[in-house]
Amino acid sequence: MADVNRDDAFVVFDRVQKSYDGETLVVKDLNLSMPRGEFLTMLGPSGSGKTTCLMMLAGFETATHGEILLGGKPINNIPPHKRGIGMVFQNYALFPHMTVAENLSFPLEVRGIDKSTREGKIKRALDMVQMGQFGNRRPAQLSGGQQQRIALARALVFEPELVLMDEPLGALDKQLREHMQFEITRLAHELGITTVYVTHDQTEALTMSDRVAVFDDGRIQQLAAPDTLYEEPQNSFVAQFIGENNTLEGVITAIKGDLCEVKLDSGEIIDAKPVNVSEVGQRTRVSIRPERVEMNRSRLQAGAHTLKAEVLEFIYMGDIFRTRLRVAGNEDFVVKTRNAPDQVRTEPGQQIEIGWLPQDCRALDA
Ligand SMILES: Nc1ncnc2c1ncn2[C@@H]1O[C@H](COP(=O)(O)OP(=O)(O)O)[C@@H](O)[C@H]1O
Ligand SMILES: [Mg+2]
Repeated sequence: MADVNRDDAFVVFDRVQKSYDGETLVVKDLNLSMPRGEFLTMLGPSGSGKTTCLMMLAGFETATHGEILLGGKPINNIPPHKRGIGMVFQNYALFPHMTVAENLSFPLEVRGIDKSTREGKIKRALDMVQMGQFGNRRPAQLSGGQQQRIALARALVFEPELVLMDEPLGALDKQLREHMQFEITRLAHELGITTVYVTHDQTEALTMSDRVAVFDDGRIQQLAAPDTLYEEPQNSFVAQFIGENNTLEGVITAIKGDLCEVKLDSGEIIDAKPVNVSEVGQRTRVSIRPERVEMNRSRLQAGAHTLKAEVLEFIYMGDIFRTRLRVAGNEDFVVKTRNAPDQVRTEPGQQIEIGWLPQDCRALDA
């Protein structure tokens, strides 16, 4: 799915740029192709251009350059009510003076659907989000979670082919948010809806999506399935933004095939996988995930690289141990180990040796 052919794709952003003031580009050269039925999340820090992209797709903003296609047709030529796009926002945006049923009826009336058909569709949409009993309430008589369900039902009631959601769960507490994450992905897949979901929450992005587009500074930094994104970040931004990450800085001293040699600023030399580096002498940040570091010498695999480390903190978390170390001058080097009978438990001040496989250590841009 990594490279969807533009001709087969349902949603296409082709070299899209956007400037609000005619000077600064808030979206710079965006390329994206989505097949029908895909659940794609735009993930990135605040101000990285996610909402702007959604608004261009919905037709509320126009692209400064480039083209957006929906079902093979440039979106500019399709009037908004014929785009078949449902939208859900963080603040629900329900009509306060209307009942729940009237809120759901609205998008159907706009599309000229007759009364009896409307009633059937409203009932089905409310049942879908388990709110069948609430048709006569007004939004103010519902909890935040219930309002968000109604907003979701309203976006789905006219059976759109494409649903856009902009941080829809941001206002909900953790437990409800996790429940709704599950509900939304289940509904999207059951109904075969193509979904573009926006969030700044990486856990939400990883757990819900078929693919995630990581945004920073108006560009997609990486577009990949969740496991690829986590295990094979293509640059330092993605490695830092997704999951927990240890970074060691140094200079490339040799590149030989699928391995390179890095002289760390602290003097040690380690092997790494050259990912986003090209030549000797270049500065690099090597990235290694906390769970790929081994603290038990007897478990180290052949070919593992070892480094000396000092234990600064040991936290028992039940299922895992979280150990903070000083490694090659970095005092925030974290190791996560599974709580197993033979797992080492350390104490602050202890001098130990840690190791990892060179292929788990990625040399990225500095
Ligand atoms: N209507 C607007 N007019 C001018 N600038 C805007 C407007 N909307 C967003 N921006 C700017 O565009 C950039 C991207 O914003 P946005 O797309 O909302 O990012 P995100 O959703 O990732 O937080 C920000 O610098 C923001 O201030
Ligand atoms: Mg936004």
